[in-house]
Amino acid sequence: MDRPISITDNVYWIGMNDRETHLFESLWPLPCGVSYNSYIIADEKVALIDTVKFTVTSPYLDKIRGLLGGKGKIDYLIVNHMEPDHSGSIRAIVEAFPDIKIVGNLKTAKFLENFYGITENIYIVDDGDELDLGSRKLRFHLTPMVHWPETMMTYDTKDRILFSGDAFGGFGSLDGGIFDDELNIGFYEEEISRYYTNIVAKYSPMVQTALRKLSSLDVKIVAATHGPVWRSNPEYIINYYDRLSSMETVEGAAVIYGSMYGNTKKMAERVARILSEEGIENIRIHDASKSHLSYLINDAWRYRGLVIGTPTYNTGVFPPVNEFVNFLSRSRIKNHVIGVFGSCGWGGGGVKELESFARNSACTFVEPVVEAMGAPKEEDLQKLDEMARGIAREIKQLSCRATSL
Ligand code: FEO
Repeated sequence: MDRPISITDNVYWIGMNDRETHLFESLWPLPCGVSYNSYIIADEKVALIDTVKFTVTSPYLDKIRGLLGGKGKIDYLIVNHMEPDHSGSIRAIVEAFPDIKIVGNLKTAKFLENFYGITENIYIVDDGDELDLGSRKLRFHLTPMVHWPETMMTYDTKDRILFSGDAFGGFGSLDGGIFDDELNIGFYEEEISRYYTNIVAKYSPMVQTALRKLSSLDVKIVAATHGPVWRSNPEYIINYYDRLSSMETVEGAAVIYGSMYGNTKKMAERVARILSEEGIENIRIHDASKSHLSYLINDAWRYRGLVIGTPTYNTGVFPPVNEFVNFLSRSRIKNHVIGVFGSCGWGGGGVKELESFARNSACTFVEPVVEAMGAPKEEDLQKLDEMARGIAREIKQLSCRATSL
């Protein structure tokens, strides 16, 4: 999509798709790409809202020039978020439009200096401040830690568009359509969930604070920095983020394990079978050595039940499982039911560490803890059955959604 797309009169999407990058933040797989959404409001004054990653600066500038004409100018660059997937073209914009004023809050200014050495032509705004563009005003709402300290949202008081930064965004390039009514939202739901759980989830309390703060706004269109522009059903994406950030879960279980020689895998299969016999339909088993952390986190966040298995490795948790558990721990997962199991060759240690994580989390811990010496024996399997039945019982007792998030 090499030309601007009109959102309302004088408001344009000028974003770029990225299908070349393998890992977002050099961490998270992008099998279906990602979009960096940027917008132009061509009122009496012209405002650019956020930019794009430096890898796509050149076609991005072409698109802007195509819209404004060769001599067109931009009065303001509104910076809702400074992560370089959005700020990476700021320097090029300043060079192309030297009279531009960069609009951000005090924290934005610090990031501008630290990341790009920019200290001039910065117009500082605070929460609730407005900027007059002529026929409309832009109002700024500070939403710190969604998901960086400087993050803010910009509200167009005329067209009631909320330019929300990363909030309400998701992975997945915009392939032809850009609006929610032009796209198969089923596809984007999954990519929004993965984006949220991988990148924003740790800051869920701040997302909840922002949602409460914005609840009185009359929002007709949600225009985030990634993913679809929500013009037909903005409530949908707002509600979806509300459910994700309040850790609303689905009736189901993620069974995440590592296994060097198949013993812990055998135990994972047993747990899943018993969960199924107890009526749990949504069950995802992941081998942590094969499934990327991104997908482990997404399924763990989504399903109410979480069963983690590890062999002991160097007296601790098997490294790929450890990476997963550390990530979950930092995300402060709650509203889940957790069980742990595993195997060891001699002294053990891995399962004990998993148990410590589970007991210290804000989740319901289900006993017994099961650790097999070598291959699981019948008594180990019986204990696994007991744990899996307990998990299934707890999943069903806690009220949760029966359908997918
Ligand atoms: Fe899309 Fe936090 O940058």
